[in-house]
Amino acid sequence: MKPEDYAQGDAFQAEKRTVFSTEWLPLCAGGQLAKGGDYVSATVGGWGVVGVRDKDGTVRALRNACRHQNMQVVGTPSGSCETFRCRFHGWTYDLQGRFLSAPPPVAPKDPQSPEHHLPSLATTVASGLVFFSLDKPPAAPADDASLPAYGGTLATEIACNWKVCVEHLLSEHTLSADFTWTWPLLAVRRAGAMTIIEQVVPHTFLRTRLLTHIFGGSADEHRQAASTIKHVCERLQADRVEGKPAADGALVAAFHTRLAQAYAQDRSTI
Ligand code: FES
Repeated sequence: MKPEDYAQGDAFQAEKRTVFSTEWLPLCAGGQLAKGGDYVSATVGGWGVVGVRDKDGTVRALRNACRHQNMQVVGTPSGSCETFRCRFHGWTYDLQGRFLSAPPPVAPKDPQSPEHHLPSLATTVASGLVFFSLDKPPAAPADDASLPAYGGTLATEIACNWKVCVEHLLSEHTLSADFTWTWPLLAVRRAGAMTIIEQVVPHTFLRTRLLTHIFGGSADEHRQAASTIKHVCERLQADRVEGKPAADGALVAAFHTRLAQAYAQDRSTI
């Protein structure tokens, strides 16, 4: 990786066109959408997405982009609602993303047109997490049915490029029964009866959210560990920009290999 891959938007745009457009990406824990109307919104790899459980209990991922003027419909990271009302001019959608209504001055001429619905994305639930994809990759994420009960999620905002966070999570580990990595954004650790899933959310090229999902324990016990990851990653971000390489390790090397393949694919298609 070059310093600019961590500090400039070009690499992030290449990643958006390749990695984040083709893979199954984690959005949230299924437990964050426990009941009908619960939603989580996030920008993942530059894509605005809302995950929601509808009143029938089905979990869906929708593009968070209003069909009126393409603005962000949902502006809060999580909550519960009956409908989604765009905060800009009031276009309203049901929990399946179907257009319901709009104030007369901005209403579409053909309100029945399906073109006014929020685009639905491929969605699947596996290993306690909700995944979405803008494409539809052939293989669904592996499902671990043995996870203990969901105990909560911590969200940590980190001023670093997402790759710095992934490298840090991988740097002290090798693949084992107690540690697995799922390209591109998930690291899973098992500690006794507890499973800790670290989900990296690439918000922008210099803003990353780390979601720590706890199964078999309480999320509060991990606040200090999440805070430590934040401080370490922000220091490592400065190192990468200065050209200091990431720590050695087989998993970090494998991560860089996948990234290099994505960049090569991008160069061959633009
Ligand atoms: S952009 Fe959503 S209602 Fe206008």
